Amino acid sequence: MEMKPKTAEFWMVIFLYLLPNWKLEAEAKNNFELQTDNFTCSSDDISSSVLKEFTCGISKSTKRRTWHMEFVLEQPVAEHDFFIKIVLPRRRPLPDFVLLNVTTDGCQLLANRNQVPLMRLGRNIMERFSNFPKQCPFKPNFTYYIRGFRLDLNLVPAVDMETPVQIEFSHQNKQQGIRWITGYLMARVQRISEKKRSK
Ligand SMILES: *[C@@H]1O[C@H](CO)[C@@H](O)[C@H](O)[C@H]1NC(C)=O
Ligand SMILES: *[C@@H]1O[C@H](CO)[C@@H](O)[C@H](O)[C@H]1NC(C)=O
Ligand SMILES: *[C@@H]1O[C@H](CO)[C@@H](O)[C@H](O)[C@H]1NC(C)=O
Repeated sequence: MEMKPKTAEFWMVIFLYLLPNWKLEAEAKNNFELQTDNFTCSSDDISSSVLKEFTCGISKSTKRRTWHMEFVLEQPVAEHDFFIKIVLPRRRPLPDFVLLNVTTDGCQLLANRNQVPLMRLGRNIMERFSNFPKQCPFKPNFTYYIRGFRLDLNLVPAVDMETPVQIEFSHQNKQQGIRWITGYLMARVQRISEKKRSK
């Protein structure tokens, strides 16, 4: 992965995006959360050679909305890539701000051997919300899920704003790059009101 000058700053922000329910006492008055507006998914595996079935969506409750994804594979998946892109759309004429746009080894990520400490942290957090294996392969005929995922962002001034966020992630074939499943998350970073927070 190419290291840009602002990489450390980017990872700091990513860290905050990935860390749910994180309480930083000192910053208690700066409370943000990622409010999910929409979550859909698609597959490029049109012949269903890898993916048997999948479903994605958001919870009905608008107040504490969570998103979920479930899939069943046709065959075991060992070697694969994981792609993630996080974009903060901005008003024209400003170009959209691409916070993250990386493709990384999926097995290393599952096994939490990714080189980037914050990717490791993100993987740890997923433990709570998913039943993904701790190492490759993903097995066939088994329902993998990510459920009830929501984020509370208790933030530092770096993301002291309310902003839309678009996240796209996929599991893809290493050689041909066929994305057997891709999730599209539309969300907003929002300030948590005092009233809501006390619940
Ligand atoms: C969610 O996204 C899908 C696909 O882009 C779109 O068809 C649908 O209308 C969206 N739903 C809402 C509630 O925005
Ligand atoms: C993300 O990276 C890919 C490959 O490096 C590039 O082709 C694509 O244009 C990038 N997308 C954005 C939104 O920056
Ligand atoms: C998955 O289940 C189906 C139906 O139960 C079975 O025919 C198929 O052989 C199974 N596939 C694998 C790879 O275990």
